[in-house]
Amino acid sequence: MATSTLGMITGIGAAMFFRKKKNWLKIHKMVNSISFVGMAAGIVMAFYYVFETGGEHIDGVHQIIGLIAITSAFVTMFLGFYQFKAKNKPAIRVVHRWIGRFFLLMCLTAIIGGLMLINVI
Ligand code: HEM
Repeated sequence: MATSTLGMITGIGAAMFFRKKKNWLKIHKMVNSISFVGMAAGIVMAFYYVFETGGEHIDGVHQIIGLIAITSAFVTMFLGFYQFKAKNKPAIRVVHRWIGRFFLLMCLTAIIGGLMLINVI
């Protein structure tokens, strides 16, 4: 999860700050898509861990925010690909941008919740 989060931040950073470089979209697309797969794998592992240890699923702020984050990442990724095919490209682009930013906020909030769960902060 930590590696995928760093990947997401790097990919979004490319879209935010390196738009003048010609490879930014290739990097953004690849790094964010791979990070999404990594994050989805992390969530599956977390579910499996809770299942194996007999815990309660989605029973805290970290878990709820994490679920919102992965859902918004999925929608963002879908819109990322769809924006090139859509009739109303500028609108899809704006939605992709804002759900992507919302995802980043949820992701950072989930990290804080996760660190609190393991008593680091
Ligand atoms: C989970 C995966 C993804 C996330 C979280 C994400 C997030 C973002 C964010 C936050 C921005 C706005 C950056 C800014 O503030 O200016 C952005 C822009 C953009 N992304 Fe993504 N993205 C993802 C996947 C993709 C994919 C797969 C594609 C293409 C196939 C893509 C294409 C674009 C494009 C073209 C822009 C520029 C949009 C514009 O000009 O307004 N993204 N992305």
